[in-house]
Parts: sequence; C-alpha cells; structure tokens
Amino acid sequence: MAKVAIKPGTYLYPVPAVMVTCGPRVKPNIITLAWVGTVCSDPPMLSIAIRPSRYSNELIKQHGEFAVNLPTVDLVRVTDYCGSVSGRKVDKFAATGLTHVPAKAIETVVIGECPVNIECQVTQVLPLGAHDLFLGKVVAVQAAEALVNEAGNLDLSHAELFTYSGSRYLRLGHLLGTHGFSVKG
Ligand SMILES: Cc1cc2nc3c(=O)[nH]c(=O)nc-3n(C[C@H](O)[C@H](O)[C@H](O)COP(=O)(O)O)c2cc1C
Repeated sequence: MAKVAIKPGTYLYPVPAVMVTCGPRVKPNIITLAWVGTVCSDPPMLSIAIRPSRYSNELIKQHGEFAVNLPTVDLVRVTDYCGSVSGRKVDKFAATGLTHVPAKAIETVVIGECPVNIECQVTQVLPLGAHDLFLGKVVAVQAAEALVNEAGNLDLSHAELFTYSGSRYLRLGHLLGTHGFSVKG
C-alpha cells in the first residue's frame, strides 16, 4: 500500500457524537461533543475535550460535573443544533424541545430522549492547548430497558447510534465480530 505524509492531526475514526448536559438544574445547557473517550474501567472514567471559549467549559468548571447523553439517529438534527449555537444566547432545551430530567447522582440534568445517560463527576481538568481535557468519574448510568439484556448488560447494537467524521454524521450498526473471535476455533 503506497502512503503519503499528511499534516499532523487527530485522524481517529469513528468518534462518537454525544450531547453533554451541564450546569444547574434550573438553567441547564447542552453541548455536542465529538472528542470524547474511554479512559479507565475501574473506577469507570471517561474524558471530554472542550475549548475554553465554550459556555459549557465554564459551567463544567463551576459545577464540577456533567452527563454524557448518547443520541440516536432520530436526534441527529438536534445534536447538530446543540453543536452550532451557544447556551450563552439560547436555551437549547427550549429551542429543541428536548426533555430535561434530573440526574440521579449529580446536580445537573440528563436528556430524556437519549437512551443512555452517563453521569460524571470531574476529577481533573488538563489544559492542553486549544482544548481542556476533563476527566470524569462515572457515578451513575441510566439506560433504556430495551437496551439491557437479561444478564443486566447494555447492548447498544440495536440502539441506532451514529458517529461523526470529517464533518459528516454516519449511522453505525454492522456487526463484524465479537471480542476474541480471531483466536477462537
Ligand atoms: C458534531 C460536533 C462535534 C463537536 N465536538 C466538539 C468538541 O469535541 N469539543 C468542543 O469544544 N466543541 C465541539 N463542538 C462545538 C460545540 O458543540 C459548539 O461550539 C457549541 O455551540 C458550544 O456550545 P456552548 O457555548 O453552549 O457550550 C462540536 C460541534 C459539533 C456539531
């Protein structure tokens, strides 16, 4: 395979598109993020990278918590909207009609229409340059009953989630294998 050197950049594909809720329950905000990652299994932790200029960056630093809400394909338009306007000027819950529901373990809200809501407390904020990296310890997760199997495990294969790459929203969903299939007889 012939290769060429290209400009250094973060070319990970796919990355998730999520809606993060933050701020006080009386005036919560939503920000769409693609730069989100899994960083630790025990304690369960994830990361979100947010530019210092975003209103949500300010809110999360103030309140020390946020929730990651996984949107389904029918929510792609509102996901795009929440990543295109600022909560400094617009009440995004009112503008989109999304439902805010009190989180279980933190003092902000989660999005009722998203089938999975992951509540996090901030443990560290790392200023990296263009983005600040927030590390969040997962303190509660709510999942739609239809996505939880008999063993109590979350199965997102039929959740109709989507990903984001090169400014495009793309549907996920073709099973290619399961963990360990390459070494099983
Ligand atoms: C699909 C998508 C992904 C985005 N990912 C990020 C991200 O990872 N980090 C970030 O700082 N902004 C990201 N943005 C931009 C913010 O969502 C956008 O600037 C938003 O309007 C900020 O809202 P706020 O000012 O209410 O916090 C993304 C936008 C879209 C549409």
